[in-house]
Amino acid sequence: MMHSRIRTLEQYHVAYKQSIDDPDTFWGDIAEPFTWRRKWDKVRGGEFSPEGRSTWFEGARLNLTENCLDRHLAQRGNKLAIIFEPNDPKTRHLRLTYRELHEQTCQFANVLLKNGVKKGDRVIIYMPMIPQLAIAVLACARIGAVHSVVFAGFSATAIADRVNDAEAQVVLTADGLNRGAKQIPVKAVVDEALQNCPSVRRVIVVEHTGWPVQWQAGRDAWYHDEVKDVEKECPAAEMDAEDPLFILYTSGSTGKPKGVVHTQAGYMVWADFTFRNVFQVEENDVYWCTADIGWVTGHTYGLYGPLLAGSTSLMFEGVPTYPSPGRFWEVIDKHHVTIFYTAPTAIRSLMAAPIDHVLAYSLSSLRVLGSVGEPINEEAWHWYHQHVGKGRCPIVDTWWQTETGGIMISALAGITPSVPARAGLPLPGVHPVLLNQDGTEIEGNDQEGYLAIKDSWPGIIRTTWGDHERARQTYFTPYPGYYFTGDGARRDESGLYRIIGRVDDVINVSGHRFGTAEIENAINQSEYVVESAVVGYPHDVKGQGIYAYVICQNGVPTTDIDLQVTEASIIEAVVAEIGRIAKPDKIQIVSGLPKTRSGKIMRRILRKVAEGETSNLGDVSTLLDPLVVDEIVAGKR
Ligand code: WT7
Repeated sequence: MMHSRIRTLEQYHVAYKQSIDDPDTFWGDIAEPFTWRRKWDKVRGGEFSPEGRSTWFEGARLNLTENCLDRHLAQRGNKLAIIFEPNDPKTRHLRLTYRELHEQTCQFANVLLKNGVKKGDRVIIYMPMIPQLAIAVLACARIGAVHSVVFAGFSATAIADRVNDAEAQVVLTADGLNRGAKQIPVKAVVDEALQNCPSVRRVIVVEHTGWPVQWQAGRDAWYHDEVKDVEKECPAAEMDAEDPLFILYTSGSTGKPKGVVHTQAGYMVWADFTFRNVFQVEENDVYWCTADIGWVTGHTYGLYGPLLAGSTSLMFEGVPTYPSPGRFWEVIDKHHVTIFYTAPTAIRSLMAAPIDHVLAYSLSSLRVLGSVGEPINEEAWHWYHQHVGKGRCPIVDTWWQTETGGIMISALAGITPSVPARAGLPLPGVHPVLLNQDGTEIEGNDQEGYLAIKDSWPGIIRTTWGDHERARQTYFTPYPGYYFTGDGARRDESGLYRIIGRVDDVINVSGHRFGTAEIENAINQSEYVVESAVVGYPHDVKGQGIYAYVICQNGVPTTDIDLQVTEASIIEAVVAEIGRIAKPDKIQIVSGLPKTRSGKIMRRILRKVAEGETSNLGDVSTLLDPLVVDEIVAGKR
């Protein structure tokens, strides 16, 4: 039975049941229509738990770009693949057909080959949201190089960490970047990073802003020079189903960010299936995912999903509020966007602007709205539904993670229930469960617990780069037999899932994930700092804000100037280690932290104080120094 496109609630239930009862037949059928150089020997394999070594479509041979590009040329060669909307609305937009995107991907791939990039080599991409970023990613996939995109907002240190972890030999970048009113000298950031990256031998630079750059002869090359004499055809490398496709670094509750690895065939099938079904995509849709390709949402639903489906995908260089908070709505009208996928934090920031910014546009082309990255609060849901969707567009609240490759729990637009503050029902192939602390499954509806996934799905994380043990420990051993998500969830009376938020030391700031330990480590780089503890607290626009409690060498500053200097140094340390996106919203300098006699920081107390709680702080009797709590409460920012 074919379920590759579900169109009714009944079909959803039938598909769901088969996907759980007989996944091999289910996914085998769905994988059939892709372009394969060789079909698989086995649909599902490996050891899901506790080893965390799932395989999908073992033995198959393919190339993802043949499925994204070549496959569409006969029927959709002149169809738009990418519409590019630049940061400055006065600059002309750009359109690329499938034929043009194919040609430019092949050219970029030939440039990589000419520069000695081979199958399996890691390529770091640090670029603005411009078509060449999409093309660079596809070019890597074309020749079988493993791409690792680093969001062009991360610092030089963060780039260096990723380059070194991946042992990348080549970096693809641009001269500069405009994001709203901000300008980032992208090439200069890369130059700084590479002072500590012995593995990198080549940097290929795309000219975008025309700003002057420093040049390291022998290492640096302009893309426009390299591309002059290359062919417009590039044979696609034949990849094994389980060869790595990309590494994407993401934060966890401990240590440095880890490199989440996705592979070829399973990721492809999962990206395509989830994209077409969740958004109920039709041939003439103009689809816009506002996420940067530097995040997983940009990978799966900005790039791969839409291209696999032969859709037209809009790529936006700017930000929602530049030059005015009407920019999103202007772009939707301008390009007749039919499906719009964005983050709750963007919705909340636009809600705060005068409503005239929305009412000035018709938004009549819109058909489906999506949300991703964090729980969407009811107020934002209703505003999105009423003012953007004009009450007629279904909203899909899509829950997933970098590690899941694609959407796991969500409504299928207009088909399965869409209720405010509920992600909804699981997609076919996804078997969610709620667990107790001891790992037993919680049965029935109207229940809350740790969200875990029983059994593998095609887009599951395959490993963490260079350190499989870390993946095993993080996801597969906390509750043997399950993939552990790190989220808490509630199953409501109707069996719909509501995601509550992270249950580990991960905070979600504007849909971006940071480990508290990661931010603490950055803060501790400041010369003034002895120790720090970071927690999340509710923030009106960002979802969660970053609250840092810091112990300084010279105690608590007594003058304003001392305080300013200390705070500036702390912020500078975070900006240098991670990037502006991880800047603490509030810093409180304290003389001590609430620690147990064994030296463990009681974060529960710090979280409560950051949330504004003053009295019900729970039991503090086990603390080494209970008085420190009074000081913290009194000094709350
Ligand atoms: C974490 C994953 C995968 C998309 C971008 C974020 C939270 C994501 C939702 C949602 C409630 C959500 C979870 C998850 N999250 N989407 N629709 N409702 N929470 O990817 O950086 O890997 O973060 O984002 O806490 O674990 P990510």
